Amino acid sequence: MTEFDRTRWAEKGFGEQYLETADIRVVERKRLLAILKSFYRHFLVGKQQCRVLDLGCGDGVLTNELFRIDGSLSATLVDGSEDMLNKAKERLTGFKNIRFVKASFQELLHTDLPYFDFVVSALAIHHLTLSEKKSLFEYIYSHLDAGGYFVNIEVVLPPSEALESWYQNLWREWIIEKQTELGLEDDYEGTIRSYKEKGHYSKLDTLTDQLDALNDIGFRDVDCFYKYGIFAMYGGKK
Ligand SMILES: C[S@@+](CC[C@H](N)C(=O)[O-])C[C@H]1O[C@@H](n2cnc3c(N)ncnc32)[C@H](O)[C@@H]1O
Repeated sequence: MTEFDRTRWAEKGFGEQYLETADIRVVERKRLLAILKSFYRHFLVGKQQCRVLDLGCGDGVLTNELFRIDGSLSATLVDGSEDMLNKAKERLTGFKNIRFVKASFQELLHTDLPYFDFVVSALAIHHLTLSEKKSLFEYIYSHLDAGGYFVNIEVVLPPSEALESWYQNLWREWIIEKQTELGLEDDYEGTIRSYKEKGHYSKLDTLTDQLDALNDIGFRDVDCFYKYGIFAMYGGKK
């Protein structure tokens, strides 16, 4: 049994449940995708067949968004879950130059992939400990061409209890706003309470620790590009 097999993502139905509720549970998910596309348009459009790596691709939402603005890109999508990869295959039917790799991030470290221009990930790397995150960031850096970029959309650990309490309120307010808009009544309090449960589910680290890790590895232009409570988008350039 691999480390990934011990997580809830390996359970049948868990991924599906996430996908059905992602727009409610993830604060400003559509805005995050819009900012990612803006980043791509600003820094990567114009490259000849931009090579994209999508880590923890889920149903391929990020790659799908990028294809909408650049039909010429080539994409490699990695996920530990066969079910999620199948959903991504379904979603991306019709696009060319796509490769799917079933591997946990721990396994990926021993997998030989080519060079990329853009590595993206959303809400997946927080399942790794800080030391595993650092190893994955090193792997990303070594698989980026010079001038390539890494962008990670992530749940980050608040630096203090006071901030955490406010961020949880912000999250609650977002969910209530979305539910009211959609006429739904599900109870997501459990999600908010348990978001940083330790163990095999989430291994959250502060934004500062993750930015420091990127800087230590040698990434340039390291910054947080967007933040709303516990949800952040950050990255850097090789
Ligand atoms: C919250 S979903 C996000 C999916 C997609 N990126 C999105 O934004 O909708 C997290 C994804 O990461 C994958 N994942 C979680 N831990 C992983 C690991 N250690 N190795 C590889 N994939 C992992 C899960 O299978 C799942 O598809």
